[in-house]
Amino acid sequence: MKKAFHIKTYGCQMNVYDSERMHEALTAKGYAPVEDMEAADLVILNTCHIREKAAEKVYSDIGRIRLLPDQRENPETQRMIAVAGCVGQAEGEEIMRRAKAVNLVVGPQTYHRLPQMLDVAHEQAAKGQRIRVLDTDFPEESKFDHLPKAQSAAAPAAFLTIQEGCDKFCTFCVVPYTRGAEVSRPVADIVAEAENMVARGAHDITLLGQNVNAYHGEENGQDVNLARLIRRLDEIEGLERIRYTTSHPRDMDEELIQVHGDVEACQPYLHLPIQSGSNKILEAMNRRHSREHYFKIIEQLRAIRPDIALSSDIIVGFPGESDEDFEDTMDLVRQVKYAQCYSFKYSPRPGTPAAEMGEQVPEDIKAERLNRLQALLSEQALEFNQSCVGRSFDVLVERTGRGENRWVGRSPYMQAVHFTLDDAQQKVVDERRGKAYTSPIGAKVRVKITQAGPNSLSGDVDLLTN
Ligand code: SAH
Ligand code: SF4
Ligand code: F3S
Repeated sequence: MKKAFHIKTYGCQMNVYDSERMHEALTAKGYAPVEDMEAADLVILNTCHIREKAAEKVYSDIGRIRLLPDQRENPETQRMIAVAGCVGQAEGEEIMRRAKAVNLVVGPQTYHRLPQMLDVAHEQAAKGQRIRVLDTDFPEESKFDHLPKAQSAAAPAAFLTIQEGCDKFCTFCVVPYTRGAEVSRPVADIVAEAENMVARGAHDITLLGQNVNAYHGEENGQDVNLARLIRRLDEIEGLERIRYTTSHPRDMDEELIQVHGDVEACQPYLHLPIQSGSNKILEAMNRRHSREHYFKIIEQLRAIRPDIALSSDIIVGFPGESDEDFEDTMDLVRQVKYAQCYSFKYSPRPGTPAAEMGEQVPEDIKAERLNRLQALLSEQALEFNQSCVGRSFDVLVERTGRGENRWVGRSPYMQAVHFTLDDAQQKVVDERRGKAYTSPIGAKVRVKITQAGPNSLSGDVDLLTN
């Protein structure tokens, strides 16, 4: 009987990609995925360590999973719990000590070894020992060379990791410690994987890296940066949309900015985290760029692609942030006008330089600043979304929505777009795609936007213009 597994994913898109690869590695080993955690022989938590709350959630989830009812087909064996991802990397030994229910710990760069780790686990179980296997190395070999080629259907909008780790060492951030050094994958591997994704049904690919615009690969003895990689991927037939995330302002060069002007598949959306609008704080964060440099990039981007939607990450309450520094952040946000932006209270992380800095900002001040910033950001997001009312967008049907015949996709600017496809419309969509599809997922429809909220758009499908 096949063993059943369930993966729960926390954190960033890189974890979403990693979970898919673990899924492939486990199915290649003869495991079968299950939706319901209660039916799983192996539960994998692919975790995130970025802020304290994210990491704490994992421990409370472990406690909950330990007490789950057992709905498995083969309950005579022990259910295994594995912690993967960045909490596993950062706190693996401690988890093994603290959370007795955890049997396996695997890091973001070792999950290709999961099948062998499971063999060891089963041997331990057969001997009646407590199951405990940990592998959080930063190995010489690349996981990408040891993972099976993906076989299962791809999501219409899929993620592809092109670079791992980070060498930037922003003083607040755990990523260089949890993911290791920055490494770019070879161009040929990325092209082959993108082709495979398109063949499995993807039309929209987001290239991933924690510092994705520092990508530097090689093909035929030539250096290939992200701009050239995007142009190379643009040659793949059936790949209609290309996005990339996350970019660092320091690596946003003119060649990449130009791509937004002349590669049609490259979407008019850029996530370019600023973190703070104050030069003093940017320096303390070791971001190695100024607000002036950031404004210059935005000016160049808008000159080339006036409709580009900008998104960002901002931290409030970094150590030493004064009222004036925070006002600089508010001012920067007012000037840039974001389409979307994520904002966080600074969370001191063990082992990072900022956690040791003096002048930690009290919690109530952080909360007050976050409220003010988020009010401004929601206003800007709503304004941007409202500016889309009356426009028509090509939308890739990505998933079912809430309610009968409701579907969701995304605009070129990354907003979620909700719409209805009645049975007759679904039939037309399916017929137009030329094959016998049973669901509109993966089809492209034209949606005229009629309503805008702070987080999404909705509209009517216009089949005549499709
Ligand atoms: N590589 C990306 C972001 C990685 S983490 C970049 O360079 O921008 C995603 C976001 O989490 C960061 O942009 C930052 O805004 C936030 N973040 C990271 N560490 C944090 C911390 N210690 N406290 C609060 N927010 C943090
Ligand atoms: Fe973290 Fe900075 Fe690297 Fe982004 S660039 S992952 S914020 S260290
Ligand atoms: Fe979290 Fe690790 Fe991503 S810490 S944000 S899952 S790289």
